[in-house]
Amino acid sequence: MVGKKVLGFLAIVGAAAIAACSSDGGDGSGPGSTADQVNGNEDGGTTTNTGDPKPGGDPNGNADAGGDGGLNLDTVKDPLFFLPQGQAQLASLCARKLGDAVSKAFCTPTTPPVITSLVDLQKLLGLDFKSGNNNNGTGGNPGFVLSGHSSSLVTKFVTAINPRAIIFTPPPSTGRVNNPKALASFVAMGFVRGEQFVELVSNDPTNGNALNFFIFKFEHACDTTPQGCTNADVLTPSVETGFTGVYSLYSENDIKNTVLDCQQCHQTGGPSTQKILRMQELQNPWGHFFRNNRTNGQVLLADYATAHPTTEAYAGIPGAAITNSDPAQLEGLVENMGFKNQPNEYNTQTILSEVQKVNANQPASNLPMGTSATWLKLYQGSMAASDIPPPYHDIKVTDPTKLSAAAASYKSVMAGSTPAAQMMDIRDIFLESAASDMSFRPAAGLTGAQILVQQCQQCHNKNLDQSETREKFRVDDLANMTRQEKDLAIHRLSLPNDVFRKMPPPRFRSLSPAEIALVTEELKK
Ligand code: HEC
Ligand code: HEC
Repeated sequence: MVGKKVLGFLAIVGAAAIAACSSDGGDGSGPGSTADQVNGNEDGGTTTNTGDPKPGGDPNGNADAGGDGGLNLDTVKDPLFFLPQGQAQLASLCARKLGDAVSKAFCTPTTPPVITSLVDLQKLLGLDFKSGNNNNGTGGNPGFVLSGHSSSLVTKFVTAINPRAIIFTPPPSTGRVNNPKALASFVAMGFVRGEQFVELVSNDPTNGNALNFFIFKFEHACDTTPQGCTNADVLTPSVETGFTGVYSLYSENDIKNTVLDCQQCHQTGGPSTQKILRMQELQNPWGHFFRNNRTNGQVLLADYATAHPTTEAYAGIPGAAITNSDPAQLEGLVENMGFKNQPNEYNTQTILSEVQKVNANQPASNLPMGTSATWLKLYQGSMAASDIPPPYHDIKVTDPTKLSAAAASYKSVMAGSTPAAQMMDIRDIFLESAASDMSFRPAAGLTGAQILVQQCQQCHNKNLDQSETREKFRVDDLANMTRQEKDLAIHRLSLPNDVFRKMPPPRFRSLSPAEIALVTEELKK
């Protein structure tokens, strides 16, 4: 064990050195990538890991020899703990000389860009809004959408009052277009309050237009206070400004063996297959996206307005422009770049009308819950792990009582009537009875083996990059799994929710004690 850890430390230095002096035109995805090597040491196959020294690079990115051995990796919270940070990370990324617009914006200046707000980042990437203009995609503005539900990395953060914003280079045309690679260069940004990161994707014209995914992780002033970040710090406009200027930009390959991995959803077929832009609700009337002339989009906009005044900007989008959210623009980008054929596309029109047959008050009221045979087929695909989870069948994902309490709490804090420290967690308002249908929990009544497939296989399968440590746990090859690996999985299931090694990752889903017992029993076979 100790020997392996020391090797791990050398690997970090080695990988950084390789990155610093080569410009292989690749994206750091080779077996020599830092993430692989570092993460290669995370699990030594023991079930306790007590006494593991941490492998070299400390969380500040200093590749020193440590001196703080004895760290129990099962207590580490930050999934990016092992990676270099700040300027060291930027130097490593820039040495790869990628040709996409995100890399160029960060790497062309002779000194690293200064970024102390979300708008600073938007300006750097050409995604800022021009003052006095509420247009979507014209008059110098980027294209933009807001959504009241997401099946992405931030699925548990997104509701109508804490929407996901996607802001992007406007496409040349919208509607059902089929004009692949119409833009020479584009950038798309995903942001939701509550996260201290921004998701980015950009195409690389020097590499066959391949998509490059990034995560921009920022440190916020609230991180440096004794009490740390509060709900009010991260769930109000405060989170969009007051960055300390310390940030780390990671490419998808730096983070691919972490729970923030982009490829499990944007490149599900594995390393040799095409990466895709995703939009399950690609077509009119665009399911969970805000749009002011579709019933589904309108009910979400109405919920949004219960918390946010038109004077408040969200994700850098001027308050008065929010009602111009237009999913046709994102559809245009996705189709113009050649991704008209979406895996497990969610047919909004059909699903909505099926749901309305059960409850005529949908989509304005989501109680009683709807059902939809069309949706069920998509969901079954995710149960069998052939697709990522579909968006929820109803338009509203929130518990109406919790939603109004959260909106009231938000407004009261914003008005200064309630102390900021008392603000509710306004993310935590999902309709409890819909947790399985939103894929936050397993479907009811599954066996241990079925739970493993639905809850684990999306990230643990034979298609994904087999050089990653996580692919020692291949759920689609359970018959050949070692006893040791199964024991490790049993251990991972038992960890507390706030550590990065907890499986399944609570960011996406979780199991009840009874379900953990069923899976454990299966893994003991
Ligand atoms: C669990 C699956 C999942 C993961 C993991 C994931 N995404 Fe996505 N992503 C989606 C889906 C689904 C959408 C469509 C919109 C939505 O559901 O919010 C999307 C949309 C996007 C968009 C808007 C452009 C588009 O493709 O429609 C960006 C930008 C993006 N993702 C970046 C990233 C980055 C960067 C990562 C990794 C740090 C990542 N995503 C990880 C599922 C995922
Ligand atoms: C969203 C993606 C995701 C899901 C879902 C997921 N895992 Fe993981 N898992 C990872 C990642 C990333 C790693 C590698 C980082 C680490 O070791 O924590 C990992 C590592 C592991 C490991 C250690 C592998 C090794 O030998 O190093 C085990 C065991 C494991 N997961 C079990 C599970 C089980 C059991 C489930 C379902 C109940 C599950 N995982 C669901 C992403 C996921």
